Amino acid sequence: MIPIRPPRATFNQLRTFEAVARLGGMSRAAFELHLSQPTVSAQIRELSSSLGLELVVSSGRGVRLTEEGRALQAVARDLFERWHQFEETVDSLRGLHRGVLRIAGVTTAEYFIARMLKPFAVSYPGVRIDLSVENRDRVIERISRELDDVAVMMLPPSQLPLECLPFMDNPLVVIGPVGHPWATRRRIALAELALESLLMREPGSGTRQAALEWFEQRGIQPDIRMTLGSNEAIKHAVAAGLGLAVLSRHTLADEPQHEGLAVLAVAGFPIRRQWQLVWRRDRPLPRAAAAFIDYVRQAAITSRTPDGAPRSRR
Ligand code: PGA
Repeated sequence: MIPIRPPRATFNQLRTFEAVARLGGMSRAAFELHLSQPTVSAQIRELSSSLGLELVVSSGRGVRLTEEGRALQAVARDLFERWHQFEETVDSLRGLHRGVLRIAGVTTAEYFIARMLKPFAVSYPGVRIDLSVENRDRVIERISRELDDVAVMMLPPSQLPLECLPFMDNPLVVIGPVGHPWATRRRIALAELALESLLMREPGSGTRQAALEWFEQRGIQPDIRMTLGSNEAIKHAVAAGLGLAVLSRHTLADEPQHEGLAVLAVAGFPIRRQWQLVWRRDRPLPRAAAAFIDYVRQAAITSRTPDGAPRSRR
């Protein structure tokens, strides 16, 4: 994003200028704003000099806008319009005083879900957040039993009537221990990976399903040496040299070597998947859930991600 230079004008000056421009005179603006006329004139003078522009010229008993003045008038109107929208947003945020956001996240989402929830929690201090963290199969079960209103997952199931909102990339990478000979190689052929022992998440994990489907599409039968029930257990086992694994990049620290791990440059990786927010299409949405969906949608259309991280991490 291009850094924004703060404007060389204050909100008060713009407010005064807008009144002068609209009403066509300093005294009329002074009357409307409950200011003295010298104060209004002084503010317009200061604004003109800090912008280095002539904004108004006297005309008869009032003032007339120069071309620059007309341009600034349009900017001031836009600004006040946006400000008004902001105040309306704040009002409606304040309107949600209570309620519960029942949200489920797959275990891999636990690495960012707290950061994702924070701005929402700050905006809605009266809303309680109940977060359950389970693997994919259990999250699906919770949604189907209506125990949660929204869920964060990578692979939404097709058997439930769900709305899905993709909001962030979820690259799945191959990891090995930090001293692994592949750690310094620029490219490792997929056929080489097929000969290695892999550590996999338990059946029911979305990470496991995504990795197995990906291998199957390429006609590879991975050698699964160990099955482990959590991402952290896999990371420790990989760091201990028990094998390689495919995990979401989000499970790793920004500098994986600090965890004794290296991301390996295996051809075809990362597997590109996305994080999605899902909710039942066939059930009414509680207000807290609707507000959370709105918040994620807004964050997803700006360049930010809801967890504040860059869109894609390698
Ligand atoms: P999981 O998460 O491997 O923890 O189930 C991935 C997913 O299902 O999105």
